[in-house]
Amino acid sequence: MLQDTLQAPYVVRSATIEDGAAIARILTEVGREGIYIANEGIYMTPEQQSLVLSRLNPEQHLILVAEQNGVVVGTLEMVRGVFQKNAHTANFGMALAPVARGRHIGEGLLRAAQDWAQAKGIEKICLSVFSSNIGAIRLYQRMGYREEGRRRKQYRLGDIFVDEVFMAWYLPPRSAN
Ligand SMILES: CC(C)(COP(=O)(O)OP(=O)(O)OC[C@H]1O[C@@H](n2cnc3c(N)ncnc32)[C@H](O)[C@@H]1OP(=O)(O)O)[C@@H](O)C(=O)NCCC(=O)NCCS
Repeated sequence: MLQDTLQAPYVVRSATIEDGAAIARILTEVGREGIYIANEGIYMTPEQQSLVLSRLNPEQHLILVAEQNGVVVGTLEMVRGVFQKNAHTANFGMALAPVARGRHIGEGLLRAAQDWAQAKGIEKICLSVFSSNIGAIRLYQRMGYREEGRRRKQYRLGDIFVDEVFMAWYLPPRSAN
């Protein structure tokens, strides 16, 4: 049954308040894996995540989910710079449930977020990733993101120090028509 769900085509859509619990579940699960994202264990409760969704300013803030057969299997959050000085930029983070990885659902989420950024006139999309997260870095490189710098030994995963790698992609200029 679960396998059927995971082989099904997926859809990417904007998250609604009702997705708060599913997003909190995924972020908690990925956080507990301990090697991919900074948060550990419960980052936000379902109620806190729903509150974020209910107060979201759609001009500056995007939260997407990827869904298969009605099951939320991944999420992406993108936030535009809040000042005039950095309103041309946006930062994002994303995570898929372990069972949903390796089938380019992350690419689908990121393409949808990039479309949103393009429509908002954003010119540069940024992220940071652990240097040990080879799978994520492969995806970002395939999508045109390039390293712009790194903070060395910024995180410790158990006994191992890893760098925080900053990557960015510059959106193509919008056509004049
Ligand atoms: C990073 C992530 C969003 C990529 O999404 P995805 O849909 O799995 O991406 P892809 O299917 O394009 O795979 C990307 C790379 O992940 C690796 N990968 C493949 N299967 C995988 C699996 N089951 N588990 C982990 N990584 C896998 C491969 O190196 C792959 O690169 P390749 O296709 O060039 O060989 C997703 O794997 C994820 O949520 N990982 C855990 C959380 C995380 O790392 N978030 C990003 C923090 S910056």
